[in-house]
Amino acid sequence: MTRKLAAGNWKMNGLMASLDELKTLVQSHGDVDTDVLICPPATLLTAARDIAGDKIAIGGQDCHAEAFGAHTGDISAEMIRDAGGTYVILGHSERREDHEETDENVRAKAKAALAAGLTVVICVGESLEEREAANTLDIIGGQLAGSIPDLVTGQTLVVAYEPIWAIGTGKTPTLDEIGEVHDFIRSRLERRFGAGVGRSTPILYGGSVKPGNAAEIFGVSNVDGALVGGASLKAEDFGPIIDALE
Ligand code: G3H
Repeated sequence: MTRKLAAGNWKMNGLMASLDELKTLVQSHGDVDTDVLICPPATLLTAARDIAGDKIAIGGQDCHAEAFGAHTGDISAEMIRDAGGTYVILGHSERREDHEETDENVRAKAKAALAAGLTVVICVGESLEEREAANTLDIIGGQLAGSIPDLVTGQTLVVAYEPIWAIGTGKTPTLDEIGEVHDFIRSRLERRFGAGVGRSTPILYGGSVKPGNAAEIFGVSNVDGALVGGASLKAEDFGPIIDALE
């Protein structure tokens, strides 16, 4: 069976005091069956790891494709691992847009992350223009083929489908639209990696997931969890989303 994962991406939000939310989440949801992941800013990784212990996984939001070197401002996959992280988000649309990251860049970063022992959360998603032009599946298919390296397993790969137009907007695709894309991603993973990896890779939905819509989204075929932005910042919001996945 595919494992379920509730992942929170704090993006560029969070100071030391924000870790009180993580403390609350550990107390309320540290022993649930669902896997729970929080990806705080890099500045909070170690402190978050200390609070989360083995109850909640911690991850980075990006890493460099090189293991070390003269890359001011970047962090490596090994640094995330060293800080206690076990996951890294790669290819988020905000990285693809703000830093002009290509599928090739994402694939190189993913290779580095896998070599460092991290599980990669590879993000894919279409723009509104691409959806309106009926190009969604072509775009997703291209991103999957280009961004995911060959050497993944069902334990080291997570795919997050995030329609760009749904991120932080309060808009979501219809449940049928989510199902169509998730079924497509599952079939592409099975075709490329075989049934074992294809069926055991969690496929998350991301984009305006809230306590009020989580249950219906998790009821859609091949939705194995969520990558949550805004609603992951407060335990009182993220907790019910985790509950909806249980
Ligand atoms: O990584 C998370 C996604 O970009 C979703 O963000 O839940 O604030 O829409 P959001």
